[in-house]
Formats: sequence, C-alpha cells, structure tokens
Amino acid sequence: MSEGGGRPEGRPVRWGILATGSIAGKLAGDLAPLPDAEVTAVGSRSPQSAEAFARRFGIPRAHGSWAALAADPDVDVVYVATPHNAHHAAVRRCLEAGKAVLCEKPFTRSAAQAEELVDLARERGVFLMEAMWMYCNPAIRRMAELVRNGAIGEVTAVHADFGIGGPLDPGHRLLDPALAGGALLDLGVYPVSFAHLVLGEPAEIAAWGRLRGGVDVSTGMLLGYASGAVAALTCSLVADTARTAAVTGSRGRIEFPRGFFSPERFTLHREGAEPEEFAGPGPAGSFAHQANEVMRCLRAGETESPLVPLDGSLAVMRTLDAVRDRIGLRYPGE
Ligand SMILES: NC(=O)c1ccc[n+]([C@@H]2O[C@H](COP(=O)([O-])OP(=O)(O)OC[C@H]3O[C@@H](n4cnc5c(N)ncnc54)[C@H](OP(=O)(O)O)[C@@H]3O)[C@@H](O)[C@H]2O)c1
Repeated sequence: MSEGGGRPEGRPVRWGILATGSIAGKLAGDLAPLPDAEVTAVGSRSPQSAEAFARRFGIPRAHGSWAALAADPDVDVVYVATPHNAHHAAVRRCLEAGKAVLCEKPFTRSAAQAEELVDLARERGVFLMEAMWMYCNPAIRRMAELVRNGAIGEVTAVHADFGIGGPLDPGHRLLDPALAGGALLDLGVYPVSFAHLVLGEPAEIAAWGRLRGGVDVSTGMLLGYASGAVAALTCSLVADTARTAAVTGSRGRIEFPRGFFSPERFTLHREGAEPEEFAGPGPAGSFAHQANEVMRCLRAGETESPLVPLDGSLAVMRTLDAVRDRIGLRYPGE
C-alpha cells in the first residue's frame, strides 16, 4: 500500500473515492461513522466535481484526475464508483500505482476485462475486491453457512429477481449502451451472484432478453448445474418486481423478503418444523459491512477477501458474458 506499502496499523484506513456520483456519496456517508476509516481524498474527471464533493463530505483533498488520486500517498485504498464501462480503466490505473481497490459491481463490463485486472492485482500482490456488498451482509452470510451445513439438504433450486419500475430519465446511465447500461449488468448481477454463492458456476445457461436502444430492459435466465440444480433469475428496468429470493433444498427452503440483496432477515422452512426467523445484526442497508471487510483484509495483509473472492467475481462475469451472448447484447466497441 501507500506510504511505503505498510499496513494501516494503529491508524484509520485512508480511503480515496474515485468518481462523484450517487453511490460514491453513499460510501462517503457510510464511512463517516466508522472509527476505523477516514476519507482522505476524492478524484474526479473534473476538478470542479472533485472540489464540490470534497466540500460536501468534508474530505481534505480533491483531485481533478484519476491519476492524481492514484498517486496520492495518503490513500490506502481507492473505491471505484464510475459507470460500468469505466471500471476497468479506473481500477487498472489504481492497481498500476500500487493502490488497493474496492470496485463497484458489476466488476467490469466483460470477463476478459475482469481477468486482466485480477491477473494484474495478483501479479503485484495488491488488494482487489468487487463491491458485492450482498456477500458481506450478515443475514446472507448466515444463510450461506446454514446451506453449507446442510440445513435444507441438497440445494435443488434458486429463485431470485431484481426489477425496478422506472421510468428512468432518458439520459440515465442505465439506458446508455456506451456506459454499459441495461438491467443485466446493473441489477441482474445480484440474482446471478446470489445463485453463485450457493451453487457455484452453472454448467448450462439459457436466457431471453428484451433489448431497447442498445441495452436490455428485461432479462430472464435459467441456469443449470452439474448437481442437477436449477436457478431461475430475472431482472428488469421496467417491472417493479418483488425483489425476493429463495433457496430450496431436498429438506427445506430459505426465503428472503423484498430487498434480498441487503436483507435484515430471512425465514427457514423445514419439513415438520415451525418456520424459523433469522435476523442479522444491522444496519442492513449500509456499506459498513463491506467497508469493514476491506479494512480487515488490509490490516491482515490479505490481498483477496474470502467473503468476496476474486475467483467468484470472475465466474459471475463469465455467466454475465454468456447471458449477454444468448440475448445478443453487445456494447459499443465490442
Ligand atoms: N452497490 C450498490 O448498491 C450500487 C448502487 C448503485 C450503483 N452502483 C454501482 O456504482 C457505479 C456508479 O453508479 P452511480 O449510480 O453512482 O452512477 P452515477 O450517479 O451516474 O455516477 C457515476 C459517476 O462516475 C463518473 N462518470 C460518469 N460518466 C463517466 C464516464 N463515461 N467515464 C468515467 N466516469 C464517469 C461521474 O463522476 P465524475 O464526474 O466525478 O468523474 C459520475 O458522477 C455503477 O457501477 C453501479 O453499478 C452500486
């Protein structure tokens, strides 16, 4: 890491935020109450945006370029919060400067881009993690543990959906193919990552997507696994769906209510038993769990998080690539 690459021992972990949009603001807000964290710098494509963001969140340094942020010696880890199309270039810039990186989901636009970044991080021994905050959520972790320990027997099916009703502003990044918009990469990445957590990488992938203006507005996926399990997943920019998820096994079922990607609780149903409610420690909607995992890794000198493993992010990107292939979704330049 920076300042000679030492671990941040005995002092807060110093965060740099790359980009100044809505989710960058959420992370800045969620880091503020953490005693272990300090946001020391922000970087933007424009000095004015960086300065405005720095003023808003009381951040000491504002950089008018990604390069200046990556070179800042008072930053231990950079949070990349650009639109999807720019994740690869931004992460690469930071890794090349030796900075640890937490990169927003989807990890990149394609599996090839993700592989390049993972290879670079591993080659240089620099920390890299996809901001798949769902995997750091305590209720999701508890569910995965129950499933691993056989609480519902052998997993036979996963169902999950994430749809928003819109309508979106015509200039919204989700409708812009140049920004790698669409439902799949932005929302579908959650159901796909959820299925991956309990079933691993699928052996067979079928998908149908409705494309409009160069992005997918609704996509349905059927994933088949070597074990015989299936996953039925959907995502949409034009349907405010239930946003629920369920994992079914040979001896029971686990159900997540609306907002399965940042749940506070879930229900375990087992044959012959009353339903059991599990609640994770909150706050469920906060990025604190994910930020704490990043800081734990940095202090321990770990370059990959066991909660959000890079091999898992790569597998999810391969699945998203295959779904895009099935529905004919190509972004400019591909
Ligand atoms: N974890 C979650 O719950 C969650 C929720 C929403 C979004 N996200 C992810 O976070 C990322 C950003 O989403 P957002 O909703 O914050 O988007 P946003 O509000 O549009 O902000 C994106 C920011 O990126 C920069 N940017 C814009 N266009 C760019 C371009 N063409 N190339 C490089 N940088 C550009 C801009 O900052 P500057 O002008 O400062 O460069 C902009 O403010 C996406 O990958 C999204 O999937 C995650």
